Amino acid sequence: MKKISFLCLLLLATLSSIAQKDLPKDYLSKAFHAGRRDALRAIMPANSVAIVFANPLRNFSNDVDFQFHQNPNLYYLTGYNEPDAVLFVFKEAQTDAQGNSYKELFFVQERNAQAESWTGRRLGIEGVQQQLGIPMALNGSSFKDFAIDISKFSQVLYELPVDFPISNTESARMGGLLASFAKKTNLRANPQPDNLKNGTRQFSQLMAQLREIKTSEELVLLRKAIEISCQGQIEVMKLAKPEMSEMEIRGLHEYVHKKYGAEQVGYGSIIGAGENGCILHYVDNTRTQVGNNLILMDVGAEYHGYTADVTRTIPASGKFSENEKLIYQIVYDAQEAAFKTMKPGSSGMAASNAASEVIAEGLLKLGIIKDKKDTRKYYTHGLSHHVGLDVHDPSSSRVYKENMLVTIEPGIYIPPGADCDEKWWGIAVRIEDDILITKTGYENLSVMAPRTIADIEKMMSTKSGLAEWKLPALPSFKKN
Ligand code: GLY
Ligand code: MN
Repeated sequence: MKKISFLCLLLLATLSSIAQKDLPKDYLSKAFHAGRRDALRAIMPANSVAIVFANPLRNFSNDVDFQFHQNPNLYYLTGYNEPDAVLFVFKEAQTDAQGNSYKELFFVQERNAQAESWTGRRLGIEGVQQQLGIPMALNGSSFKDFAIDISKFSQVLYELPVDFPISNTESARMGGLLASFAKKTNLRANPQPDNLKNGTRQFSQLMAQLREIKTSEELVLLRKAIEISCQGQIEVMKLAKPEMSEMEIRGLHEYVHKKYGAEQVGYGSIIGAGENGCILHYVDNTRTQVGNNLILMDVGAEYHGYTADVTRTIPASGKFSENEKLIYQIVYDAQEAAFKTMKPGSSGMAASNAASEVIAEGLLKLGIIKDKKDTRKYYTHGLSHHVGLDVHDPSSSRVYKENMLVTIEPGIYIPPGADCDEKWWGIAVRIEDDILITKTGYENLSVMAPRTIADIEKMMSTKSGLAEWKLPALPSFKKN
């Protein structure tokens, strides 16, 4: 037993001494996260506490887990990027048994030499204190003895923790503690005590109020995520060919993301050739040849937690057909009409109405619909949503305010068998840009990715720096 602990200590000492090298230098700062906790505290009601859980690890299969993704609210408030943690933010300072005062508590994953040698470094208490600047960090193991009288608060604001882990034993232990805390404190009770009623709704409203206005630090990361995604679109425009598969095109986008340091995609990449573009969230990407079709590519790089959401629709051949051009131009004009309405004080509804009107007129003119009320048959989703840590970021205001970031994404989708001339069947177009509301109007942050018919065709006629990649057909594929 002694030997094992000694070995563990040795391993921990070795691991701690393996300094992390060449890390990105542009993570959000400690001051950003501290500022966000203060901003939350400032809008919390008197005598309240906010309780925020980390996301659990989710099981992929057997002893393999999915890549971890933090709960965006916890990431926003702390910068912590590990599972099995819980943050308490108090409106008023609390005092412990020794008379120490604190305004927040953060229970985090304990350091564990053996676990770290398998699944990666952990910050532990010291790391959280030094790197994230949260002084009141405690080990998750002390959570079981943590006695907090929830009933003394007039209001408890919280997010109900999502499913707790079952696969990884150590994680499951902490997850179990968090789950039993949620149960013990009646976070899961029904009916609930008065001070818990509406706690989740109030918490999400406060977080939406904060997160819908992007700070300058967040905008630096968002601009990077968007630029990376646009570069992905540009390279694919140069490389796309009818004989490529949807999966290969997805791989090209995601390679470019990784090349520029984006850790994840903000949502499953959507690469839909021809009629597959009619499936709004088509993440299968299984078509083996995109063929001589339009390719709808809705792809967002996630950079240090922040995601882009950019869609371009391109002709695999490099040239739009006449019918494709007609549909594409309506969607383009709808987007332009929406942009024109965008400034502080105007509403998302005004932008949406402007875009819908252009699409209705356009479809009517081409004879695809006979009545404007049928527009919804071919334009089947909303125009816009906020974007940030989540691809569909929370929002609380109906009118635009400076430093909101929203998508504008009209589309027309004509599936085979639609009630119109079959020459339109299989044409699906969406164009999506990420629009920052400025002091007096708007800025299109994804303007770098070509958007007009002429600019797309021009970009598609140029050569990518990646074009020389020539990979061999693999032996067992040659036989097919
Ligand atoms: N990019 C996917 C969506 O906006 O729903
Ligand atoms: Mn979107």
